[in-house]
Amino acid sequence: MKRLNSQLQKDGAPLELILLIRTLLAGCKEISFRVSQGALAGVLGSTLSENVQGETQKKLDVISNQILKDILKESGYVKAISSEEEDDVVACHPDGKYLVSFDPLDGSSNTEINSLIGTIFSISHAPQWMEPDDPSAFLQPGTQMVAAGYVLYGPSTMLAMTTGRGTHIYTLDKTHGGFLLTHPNIEVPTETKEFAINASNQRHWEAPMQNYITDLLAGEDGPRGKDYNMRWVAAMVGDIHRVLCRGGIFMYPFDKRNPAKPGKLRLLYEANPMAFLMEQAGGLASTGECRIMEVMPTEIHQRVPVILGSKDEVEACLSYYD
Ligand code: F6P
Ligand code: MN
Repeated sequence: MKRLNSQLQKDGAPLELILLIRTLLAGCKEISFRVSQGALAGVLGSTLSENVQGETQKKLDVISNQILKDILKESGYVKAISSEEEDDVVACHPDGKYLVSFDPLDGSSNTEINSLIGTIFSISHAPQWMEPDDPSAFLQPGTQMVAAGYVLYGPSTMLAMTTGRGTHIYTLDKTHGGFLLTHPNIEVPTETKEFAINASNQRHWEAPMQNYITDLLAGEDGPRGKDYNMRWVAAMVGDIHRVLCRGGIFMYPFDKRNPAKPGKLRLLYEANPMAFLMEQAGGLASTGECRIMEVMPTEIHQRVPVILGSKDEVEACLSYYD
């Protein structure tokens, strides 16, 4: 089976980007090990602190963030990082060529139930004019990403990644510590009968999403003319992995509760990297109003509505917004 390195070379990734990705993944392998130790290492449960978005931090959120921050700061390849678990941009090396954004441990409430969790990341070029502690360089649309992916800590540890030449999925071979290419050139089926949404928020959705979900639930007798199935992992990384593997539509839509939070998911750490993976696999990713990767961020922790997955189904959903 092909190794990660040779696939990255085949896809034309420059050497320094390959080295950066390998460094980042070394951190993810450590997270994978720490996570697998669970209660034995006393890493489950919450800390007493909250992150900048007011969410209680799990011990593993903090540990994973520290692992990635340390390894990227030391590497010399990175000028600055932004993380879901950091209030501000973290300055790294003044000559670093890249910016890295990450959600160190997505779905971390699943740690308590030994269910799916993962690390989501994206990489873009650091502008030369930029001071390492300047957040404005992170405020560029997702179209500027040069690589994005996630590492899923499940029964297998798997990596889904794109450098803009298709989406590939690798599996960590723990006997020698390498990621092997197990699912090359992912093609998300264009049609699906599976959707993922947290239906407990239904009363807060806008009319287009209300109407779309009503029609899905009507099944064979409704306007869509087929019965749908619903899945919700409660970790975006797990839901997106399923959609990449067998198709589907995943939504965390606009929510009327709090205008300052037009959705739950973060543009830089969650929506953009998953949109890049999905588009490179033939799927679509939209906010309901525009392509996710074209949203111009105004602040690093910005949230956006997310609708992504199988092309025909996303288009069907978006037709309710027209
Ligand atoms: O990071 C936010 C997140 O944990 C996502 O991974 C996941 O899709 C979502 O929140 C789950 O939210 P809810 O609490 O609505 O199930
Ligand atoms: Mn997350």
